[in-house]
Amino acid sequence: MSTTAASTSGAAGSADSSAPRRNSKRPKYSKFTQQELPACKPILTPKWVISAFTLISVIFIPIGVASLLASRDVVEIVDRYETECIPESLRGEKATKLAHIQDPSSDKTCQRNLTVPKHMKQPIYVYYQLDNFYQNHRRYVKSRNDEQLRKGSEASTTSGCDPEDTTSDGSPIVPCGLIAWSLFNDTYNFTRNEQSLNVNKNGISWKSDRDRKFGDDVFPKNFQNGTLKGGGSLDANISLSKQENLIVWMRTAALPTFRKLYGKIEVDLEANDVITVDLENNYNTYSFGGKKKLVLSTTSWLGGKNDFLGIAYLTVGSLCLFLAMAFFIVYLVKPRRLGDPSYLSWNRNPSGH
Ligand SMILES: *[C@@H]1O[C@H](CO)[C@@H](O)[C@H](O)[C@H]1NC(C)=O
Ligand SMILES: *[C@@H]1O[C@H](CO)[C@@H](O)[C@H](O)[C@H]1NC(C)=O
Repeated sequence: MSTTAASTSGAAGSADSSAPRRNSKRPKYSKFTQQELPACKPILTPKWVISAFTLISVIFIPIGVASLLASRDVVEIVDRYETECIPESLRGEKATKLAHIQDPSSDKTCQRNLTVPKHMKQPIYVYYQLDNFYQNHRRYVKSRNDEQLRKGSEASTTSGCDPEDTTSDGSPIVPCGLIAWSLFNDTYNFTRNEQSLNVNKNGISWKSDRDRKFGDDVFPKNFQNGTLKGGGSLDANISLSKQENLIVWMRTAALPTFRKLYGKIEVDLEANDVITVDLENNYNTYSFGGKKKLVLSTTSWLGGKNDFLGIAYLTVGSLCLFLAMAFFIVYLVKPRRLGDPSYLSWNRNPSGH
């Protein structure tokens, strides 16, 4: 760094001394073109480097430990159920699974028992997790009409919603588009010690979505009336701004594996409690090999369970600590005499070029 600066200021000196000639292609002198703008030119002495690395590690390692502890504190129960929640005789072939899930008269109920590993403090968030579901596909993401969601029949437009825009007789579908059409429709009911656990499904969506993106005078119309049902139905007497499961679903996920909030359990669960989940396995993920998981999770000040942040901080912190120690040892064992900084060009001639 310092050598470059020194040589450029040397070049500047010669540029300045020669008088500008006619037709010369040489650029006019300026501090910018000669790279003489004021700049930080640190001299990396061993002491400076070692203390910088030490400082970084002293800051990063405690942050890493704190985030890792917070993540370890989060209790999470994950239960994959789409494999088990199908009659045993039909589990082998994709075709039989498909026939089962697509038959409206078949029994889709299923019971799962979950054991709570550790005390879980309320609120406990209930999520469904889908795998291999590309909510980020371009045609899928675009298949909605925000104006219609906001204004409803006032703006009876369904543009952009193809192929789920109108019914076969031409009346508009509200909410239109593939995203709404494919609404997730598994249901979960929780009981503990034969007492049902209430799941609060209010306040699971973004407030700004409820207030601004989904109208409170927009009601579902002709929804899920076609020959092929894509997913859940909506109550035509409840405005869209109150159908929070739809609002959550319509905030599309960026990655093919995602979790969406289903509701909140607002009581504590004790260690070794057995939670019985009575679920309806309605949603068809068998056709594309998607997984379905039910997730119960608490949160910490850092959010859900995720070790990545803590590990990243710890890695960087310990790397810096290691470098600081290595440089320190080298400095002790085999010190090198540093050149005299007063000979550097910008120290020698502070008045400039
Ligand atoms: C879950 O637990 C209940 C009560 O202990 C039991 O009756 C039921 O058979 C269990 N269900 C499953 C699927 O294991
Ligand atoms: C749930 O969605 C599936 C499509 O994934 C559909 O075939 C089924 O009819 C829906 N069931 C209910 C009860 O909405």
